Amino acid sequence: MAEKSPDLPLARVPRHVAIIMDGNGRWAIQRGLPRLAGHKAGTENLRRVIRSTVEFGVKYLTIYAFSTENWGRPAEEVQGLLGILQDVIDRELNELNKEGVQLRHIGRLERLSPNLQERVLKAIDITKNNDRLILNIAWNYGGRDEIVCAIQKIIKDGIAPEDVTDQLVGQYMFTAGVPDPDLVIRTSGELRVSNFLIWQTAYSEWYVTPTFWPDFGHEEYRRALEAFAQRDRRYGKVSSGELQESNA
Ligand code: IPE
Ligand code: IPE
Ligand code: MG
Repeated sequence: MAEKSPDLPLARVPRHVAIIMDGNGRWAIQRGLPRLAGHKAGTENLRRVIRSTVEFGVKYLTIYAFSTENWGRPAEEVQGLLGILQDVIDRELNELNKEGVQLRHIGRLERLSPNLQERVLKAIDITKNNDRLILNIAWNYGGRDEIVCAIQKIIKDGIAPEDVTDQLVGQYMFTAGVPDPDLVIRTSGELRVSNFLIWQTAYSEWYVTPTFWPDFGHEEYRRALEAFAQRDRRYGKVSSGELQESNA
């Protein structure tokens, strides 16, 4: 078999990619499997996607793993997802640490058992000096919850109204210090934001694919990054090419 040729360099690599990993349930149902089997396959895929992210040279990856609304799923599924979180920390931590991945969490840990909270905090501590990839795990995360939390803290800190700026609000988000996502990828074809990073994605580019999360592989990830490289990010202005033409 011919050896796979190496990927050509990408014209522009996003600094921060955020992913709504959706479609695990439908992936499983299509195969006559329980939904949890889809979540397990999705977790396997996450491992591959993390590796590809490092390979592509993306510095920040944020993954939506469990939303504040996902507590409303059947208890068995919620328990299964909590079990997966625990397994990932127990089984993957060493490998992630070796690969230079720094783990962070966005969302609220309060609803996790004290034991699981402790494990998450320990994983964050162990990997805190790694800098190859910053991996933000959004678990029990909701964009509105994050904004409510920020407003509460701003009021508690006694900030004067005239000092509340775009920049200050950003510093009160769970993502303080992390650049806004350049690209958001949503698998499984849903055309909605589902309470994900609603403050931070004000000017992110979107890539939506019908592929279910467990099947979203390296090739398609690369296509998403190629599509991103072609985008003209105008931020409400006119494109730089047009400006040059009108000045000529
Ligand atoms: C995404 O897959 C994972 C979580 C929300 C935890 P889903 O479980 O939402 O899969 P679908 O959308 O039902 O197919
Ligand atoms: C968003 O997917 C949450 C995660 C991927 C963790 P959902 O499946 O929960 O979102 P909806 O219900 O389709 O909006
Ligand atoms: Mg879903």
